[in-house]
Amino acid sequence: MKKMLSGIKPSGQLTLGNYIGALRNFVKYQDEYEMIVFIANLHCITVPQDPIELKKNLKDAIALYLACGLDPNRSTIFLQSDVMEHAQLGFIMCCSTYMGELNRMTQFKDKQAKGETNLTGGLYTYPSLMAADILIYDPDYVPVGEDQKQHVELTRDLALRFNNRYETELFKVPEPIVPTVGARIMSLSEPTKKMSKSDKGDKGCIHLLDDLKAARKKVMSAVTDNLAKVNYDPQNQPGISNLLEIMSSLTGTPIDELVKQFEHAGYGDFKKAVADVVVSELEMIQSRYNEIMASGEIEKVLEDGANKARAMAHKKLMKVQKKIGIEIR
Ligand code: TYM
Repeated sequence: MKKMLSGIKPSGQLTLGNYIGALRNFVKYQDEYEMIVFIANLHCITVPQDPIELKKNLKDAIALYLACGLDPNRSTIFLQSDVMEHAQLGFIMCCSTYMGELNRMTQFKDKQAKGETNLTGGLYTYPSLMAADILIYDPDYVPVGEDQKQHVELTRDLALRFNNRYETELFKVPEPIVPTVGARIMSLSEPTKKMSKSDKGDKGCIHLLDDLKAARKKVMSAVTDNLAKVNYDPQNQPGISNLLEIMSSLTGTPIDELVKQFEHAGYGDFKKAVADVVVSELEMIQSRYNEIMASGEIEKVLEDGANKARAMAHKKLMKVQKKIGIEIR
């Protein structure tokens, strides 16, 4: 069975973008692949975090993994920091990543360009840690949204570099899998920008745990255009195109069919249909989330997941350390 690995960094509450671009695909893939999914909590602290809020977001994220359908009997689910080998291989990866490569990573560049101050070394070297997260488990595929593709490509380069340098096949070179629809869900209020969990309190971002009425309101007040035609044209109609992507991803109906279906509809009616779909999905997720939070099953899932992951990661790390000469036994 081929292996797949991915992670989410709950530096805020998980969003509809995380769900459509990543999480729901993990759930689909767990039938076909050996699935390893983790919560990238070390990655969260690359930006300042309030400890109490972070802890809540991490717990919510695990509950949401389960609520969305990840099954701990089929998938390995764990917290990144519970498997310390990630950080150790992360440092080793850092030592073979060139600064020029890190300088080209768009996420860091964007933050720098926005003039954000106090950017940390952790944020700068984060792609090397992400490479370690992946390579330590030898996955064949890494399902991610569009914005993470560049990091998986760097991971491939680092794997090949290591294999060449040490004349080995120790690292499998993984492939990113990016969904054809919904790989980049945009902000509802600024549809030329990605929907992001850091847009705190923003009308543009739907969180999976949003109050249902508030979520409906966000869809109903999504920015559109004055062309008055439901059409898929991300260049000229980014708002409407984004709503089409959301609806298509959640219903499985192809975009061109949706365009036909809403050919004669006004934007108000179209938005109401999108809001109905979004709210019913959130309702389902939230009702499972409430059951999971009440059941107390999270601790056990994390413990079992970490034990399974640690065994795999430790074996790999030892092989790497031997290969590069830092292991003397
Ligand atoms: P993160 O937490 O930013 O995002 C998690 C996943 O959600 C996808 N995503 C989106 N997809 C569509 N539209 C959006 N608006 C949207 N926003 C986010 C992301 O592409 C991603 O797939 N560095 C990673 C976490 C990570 C990781 C890993 C992932 C750490 N180690 C190893 C895979 C493998 C991150 O910050 O994702």
